[in-house]
Amino acid sequence: MENKTLAKDAWGSRLGLILAMAGNAVGLGNFLRFPVQAVQNGGGAFIIPYLVCFLILGIPLLFIEWSSGRFGGKFGNHSTPFILDTMGKGRLWKYVGVFGIFTNIAVVAYYTYIESWSLSYVLHTILGTFEGMSQTQVAQFFDDYISIGSSTTGIPFEPIVFYVLVLILNVYILSKGLGGIEKAAKIGMPLLIMFGIILAIKALTLGESGKSIQFPDASAWDGLNFLWTPQYDSLLNPKVWLAAAGQIFFTLSVGMGTIQCYASYLKANDDVALNSISAGFMNEFVEVVLGSSIVIPIAAGFLGLDWVLENAGFGMAFQTMPFLFQQWGPVIAAFSGIFWFGLLFFAGITSSLAMGTPWMGFMKDEFGWGMKRGAWSFGLLALIMGLPTVLFYHHGYFDEYDYWAGTVSLVIFALLESILFSWVFGINKGWQEITDGADIQVPVIYKFIIKYITPLLLLLVFIGALVTPHGNDWMANINNLLSGHSWELDDSSIIKKLSLYEYKNQLMEAKTQLDREVIEDKIFYSNFARIQLVSLFLFIVLLVYYANTRRTKLFTK
Ligand code: PHE
Repeated sequence: MENKTLAKDAWGSRLGLILAMAGNAVGLGNFLRFPVQAVQNGGGAFIIPYLVCFLILGIPLLFIEWSSGRFGGKFGNHSTPFILDTMGKGRLWKYVGVFGIFTNIAVVAYYTYIESWSLSYVLHTILGTFEGMSQTQVAQFFDDYISIGSSTTGIPFEPIVFYVLVLILNVYILSKGLGGIEKAAKIGMPLLIMFGIILAIKALTLGESGKSIQFPDASAWDGLNFLWTPQYDSLLNPKVWLAAAGQIFFTLSVGMGTIQCYASYLKANDDVALNSISAGFMNEFVEVVLGSSIVIPIAAGFLGLDWVLENAGFGMAFQTMPFLFQQWGPVIAAFSGIFWFGLLFFAGITSSLAMGTPWMGFMKDEFGWGMKRGAWSFGLLALIMGLPTVLFYHHGYFDEYDYWAGTVSLVIFALLESILFSWVFGINKGWQEITDGADIQVPVIYKFIIKYITPLLLLLVFIGALVTPHGNDWMANINNLLSGHSWELDDSSIIKKLSLYEYKNQLMEAKTQLDREVIEDKIFYSNFARIQLVSLFLFIVLLVYYANTRRTKLFTK
C-alpha cells in the first residue's frame, strides 16, 4: 500500500493530507515568532489586526495556493515555476515561480538550525545540564552553545554536528517521498499537540504562585490579560498591521510554494475548500491557543509582565524557559523541558520537510530525478546555504536570510500570485478551481475578497514595507509630507535595508576602533549572505530556463 502510494506520488489518505498540511503550517513560527510579535506589537492591540489578516489575507491565499497546486498537478507540474506557467500566458510567470523554490532552500537553511537547537536541548534536558543553573548561567549556556569553539557535551563542533544530523534526518524522511512526510506528520502532530496542551495547562494554573522576592509582581494572569484584552487604539497603526500580516504569512506558510507543491499531489476532483480551511484552522488553534499559553504566561508568572515586555525575543524559548522549568522541581522540570523542546522539534521538522518538496518535485518533473537524488541534492543545497548561518550566526548572517527570504520574498511572491490568479488566470476560472469538488459551500464574498481585497492589501503591505517612514510613525510622516516636507525613510524600510544603511550609519557614529570593526564585520557578512542568496536565485532561474528549452524542444520534435 505504502509503496503503491509512493509510485503514484499521491497522498495516502485525507487525514494524512490534512495532517501533513497542518504540519507544514504549524512550525517554529507558532511558538517562537507569534508570542514575540504579539508582545512587541502591544498584546491585545495585535490580536484584532491579526485575526482580520487571517480572514482576508490568510484564507484567500490558502484557497489560491491549494487550488493553483491542484490545477498544476493535473498537467504534471509539482512546483511553482511551471504551475504558474500553466496558469499565465506570458513567459515571465515561470520566473516568478522561481521564488517558490528559492525561498524554501534559503529558509530551510536557517530554520533547520533552530530545529537542531531544540533537538540538542531535548538531549541536554535529559542529561540534566540545566539542573541547578542560575538564570544567567542558562542564558550563557545558549551563547556558549552557538559559539562554535566551545562544546557543552564534549562533542566537538557541537552545533554543527547537530545541524548536520537534523539535515540528514530531513533528507532521510524526504527520500521516502510523500509517504515519509505523512508518517512524520502522523507521529509529530499528535505528540506536539499533546505536549502543548500539557504545558499550557501547567502555565494556566501557575497563577501567582511563581512570585519571588526579586519579582513580587509576577503573575501568569498578567501575561494572558496583556495578550487577550482587546485594545482598539492601535487599529490605525500600519506598523501593527504589517506585523500582523507578516505573521499570518509566515505561520500559514503562504507565499512559499510548499502549499502549491503539496496540493499538486491531489486528485483532480479532490476537495480543496474544506481541506484548506481545516488545515488553516488547525494552525490557528495551535498558534492562538497553544502558542500564546506557554512562553508568555510562564515567563510573566515567574518574572513579571514588565520583564516580558522588556525581554520579549527569540531568546526566551532557549535562554529563559529551561531556567523557569527548574522552579517546578527536577522531575517536572525534566518533563517540561522534554515536552517543550520536543514540541519545538516536531513543529520544526514537519515544516522543514515541506520546504524540501518543491525542489524535489521540480527536479523530478523536469529532469526525472528520483526521490533519493532529489532529497540528497536538497540536503546539499541546504548545507551550502546553511553552513555560513551556523558559522557566522553572530555576524548577522541569519538575520539577513530571515529578512530577505523569510519575509520580503513571501510578500512579493504572494502579491504576484494573487494578481496572476484573479487577473490573468481570471477570477471566474479561479473560483471554479476553488469550488470544484468542494465539500463545503464557500461564501461567495470570498470571490470578491480574492479579486480585490487580497491583492490590494498585499500591495499596501508591500509598499508599507518598502517605504516605512521614520520611527514607523505614519501619521506624523503623512502630515509632514502634506506640509511640504520630504518623506523620511525608516532604517527598517526595504529601501534603506538594501543599502545596509543602518550599519553604515552606525559606522559613522562608532567611537572606538573595536566598535568599527564589529560593524564592518557585519557589513562584510551581510554582503556575503546577499551574494549567496542572489546566487541561489540565479541558479534556479537558470534551471528553469534550461528546463523550459528542454520542454520546447520536446514539444517541437
Ligand atoms: N509555517 C511555518 C512556521 O510557522 C514556517 C514555514 C514557512 C514552513 C513556509 C514551510 C513553509 O514556522
